Amino acid sequence: MRTPLAAVIVAICILFVPIAFFAVGRGWVSDKPPVHWNPNMDTQEKGKPFRHDQSGVFTDDGRYMRTPPAGTVARGYLHDDDAYSLGVDADGKALQKLPDAFTVDATTVDRGKNRFGIYCAPCHGKDALGNGLVQQHKGLAVPPPSFMDPRLIEMPAGQIYKAIHDGVNNNNMPSYAVQIPEKDRWAIVAFLCTMETGEVDPAKACANKKPEDLSKRPPGYAMWKEKGCNACHTLDGTPKVGPTWKGLAGKTEQTDKGPVTVDAAYIEESIRTPNAKVVQGYPPAMPALPLNDAEVKTLVDFILNDPMLKP
Ligand code: HEC
Ligand code: HEC
Repeated sequence: MRTPLAAVIVAICILFVPIAFFAVGRGWVSDKPPVHWNPNMDTQEKGKPFRHDQSGVFTDDGRYMRTPPAGTVARGYLHDDDAYSLGVDADGKALQKLPDAFTVDATTVDRGKNRFGIYCAPCHGKDALGNGLVQQHKGLAVPPPSFMDPRLIEMPAGQIYKAIHDGVNNNNMPSYAVQIPEKDRWAIVAFLCTMETGEVDPAKACANKKPEDLSKRPPGYAMWKEKGCNACHTLDGTPKVGPTWKGLAGKTEQTDKGPVTVDAAYIEESIRTPNAKVVQGYPPAMPALPLNDAEVKTLVDFILNDPMLKP
């Protein structure tokens, strides 16, 4: 028996109808949830972050993913204690002790030593004496100080913390705030206090890093310390990162712009625009520090006239 051609064509058409039906259906838009031929737990009726709300619960913007209420702070990100997170007291001055919110336990100093070995030793040295591998091989223009330098022994705990948090002198030392969480920053400070003072209890060690009483000193001397000039300039004749201030007044200084007699104008220029003339034998490493006119004048007077700086 022969099947008529017409019957074959009709049969093929009928076979293709459902396929055509689904192909067209791909483009349909619907508010209804999709049809699932195999209902299982993957396709429960539940809210998912990027889906439109089907439940009618969130009528405001129709999103399942809710915006947190204004003022929400993620757990662990509330920095409302300046002593702990910035290292300063209520007046904004560097803390003279460990912050109350930091609890010292038996592991604190070891943890600090361990973190120091990872993050600080490359420059400041494993023994914290300022001679790390980076310093040995690269010879940084401004060398990292030794923590046994009297200036750093006296440095308030909060200021060491701030060095880690903010960096030092326009990135001469970069900030390590991203790499080191607050608790570890304080552990490093605790370790350094014990190392510097020889006191084993970190709380006592950090509280006894007494700064010098500057009220009995000439104002220029106090400023030499407070503005950090002492990081690079000594008063006793020994060169450091920069030339000593002893015997500077009236001296003929060799600079990259030729010889200069050190007078008030030259000293003021050296402070305000440090690289205008660079003293020979020294790197152009002096930062332009934010000083007001009165402070500059105090420093110039001190360098020119103070008896302690006469040769
Ligand atoms: C990439 C090298 C480098 C690393 C790493 C480094 N420092 Fe320093 N640090 C320096 C240099 C350079 C200076 C001197 C900057 C200046 O006086 O201009 C300095 C200065 C300091 C000072 C003195 C700040 C001041 O006010 O004079 C402290 C405190 C300090 N660093 C602590 C740390 C601690 C703690 C770490 C580890 C978390 C650390 N540093 C890691 C290079 C480094
Ligand atoms: C990071 C190190 C650093 C700090 C901090 C620093 N200086 Fe200097 N200073 C230098 C260097 C290096 C030189 C020599 C190169 C030059 O002339 O720029 C210098 C040069 C000078 C000179 C010229 C000295 C000479 O022999 O002719 C004066 C004056 C001076 N500094 C004042 C200051 C005062 C004031 C401060 C504090 C407010 C200060 N410096 C802080 C590094 C520093």
